[in-house]
Amino acid sequence: MKNISILGSTGSIGCNALKIVEMFPERFNVKALAAKTNIRLLAEQIERFSPELAVVYDEDSASQLKNNLAPGTKADILWGPDGYLTAASSDGIDTTITAVVGAAGLLPTLAAIEAGKTIALANKETLVMAGEIVINKAAQKGVQILPVDSEHSAIFQCLQGQRKEDLAKILLTASGGPFLDRPLAEFSHITKNQALNHPNWEMGPKITVDSATLMNKGLEVLEAKSLFGVSDDMIEVVIHPQSVIHSMVAYKDSSIIAQLGIPDMKAAIAYALSYPERLALNQPMPDFSGGQDLTFQKPDLDKFPCLALAFEACKIGKTLPAVLNAANEVAVNAFLREKISFTEIAKVVSMTMAAHDLHLDPGLEDIISADKWARKEALNFIRNLQA
Ligand SMILES: NC(=O)c1ccc[n+]([C@@H]2O[C@H](COP(=O)([O-])OP(=O)(O)OC[C@H]3O[C@@H](n4cnc5c(N)ncnc54)[C@H](OP(=O)(O)O)[C@@H]3O)[C@@H](O)[C@H]2O)c1
Repeated sequence: MKNISILGSTGSIGCNALKIVEMFPERFNVKALAAKTNIRLLAEQIERFSPELAVVYDEDSASQLKNNLAPGTKADILWGPDGYLTAASSDGIDTTITAVVGAAGLLPTLAAIEAGKTIALANKETLVMAGEIVINKAAQKGVQILPVDSEHSAIFQCLQGQRKEDLAKILLTASGGPFLDRPLAEFSHITKNQALNHPNWEMGPKITVDSATLMNKGLEVLEAKSLFGVSDDMIEVVIHPQSVIHSMVAYKDSSIIAQLGIPDMKAAIAYALSYPERLALNQPMPDFSGGQDLTFQKPDLDKFPCLALAFEACKIGKTLPAVLNAANEVAVNAFLREKISFTEIAKVVSMTMAAHDLHLDPGLEDIISADKWARKEALNFIRNLQA
């Protein structure tokens, strides 16, 4: 029986993780659940999975949650930053699933590592912001970070049984999102609803917009660099619109190993929870009887400047990835509130990165202050765009 904590239990990854728990009740026990403000769903999850602890964003949400629970429900209810740290790191938890969206995932993930928990990492922003610090801390504590992101799970699977010195290249696949074939001239008319309509994957709103701008792939390049300890020139992004190949690894003898499957996050989540074992998920497989095309192309950096910005942040490193990430979170939020246009997301990120004074040897505090600085700066740029 593995005791798990799910940070972000009401989101797309969190709900899929709970489906795995439901499929294998003899293997997984939910110790802690954490969400932001989706009280109704969190209350249902508490009734269904009986965690010892549940955490929400603020005091008001905590009292709403208490009011929503059936009399006799035993879970302790906490709120705020300390609550999330407790949910990540409490005694008795074996694996913490980090499925919160955005920079909010960083400190709870570090707390879980500090407490020696195995990490099932969905929150890519953690490694984008502070990859070196997180990976070093995990190594120091002997903690395993198992990727949940499907591409990184695929790469992790393709690396099993291989020697690191034989690795030539990581081929990170990307669907290209809903605007792959749309002419650049039409990009300024893209609406929120169009951007939220991903052709292959069902995900939360932030990552869905990131997938439409290809920033998601840029964040994944940064994530892969830290997770697999490779230089940025060893990572190539390949557009593969069918999302059947979840990523590939090329070796120095020119052999390429790929991992394939249908676009469904349950397989990657289950692998992170059961590694090195594989669970019988009984999901459909891709159809190789003739109807399945596998096509590939290069990403168009003129249409998708966010990917170019992420490559730049990856090359320069230091505090720039945290600045890219924070500015992007603010810009995507503004786009989702229909304050800026689709093409202005990249503009806001680019202007914020250009205004940043790099910290050359950043510790955690420096990264957190770069994140705060970038949020303010990005908001100023957004105000100016609106003026
Ligand atoms: N969805 C996917 O298929 C997928 C694939 C690969 C990687 N990922 C990564 O996994 C993470 C989660 O993605 P998602 O699509 O599951 O996101 P999502 O559906 O938006 O869910 C986000 C979860 O985090 C909680 N949350 C949001 N802000 C928070 C905060 N400030 N503090 C604490 N909790 C907070 C939300 O609670 P409320 O519901 O209460 O707001 C919700 O439970 C992201 O980092 C994403 O890049 C996702």
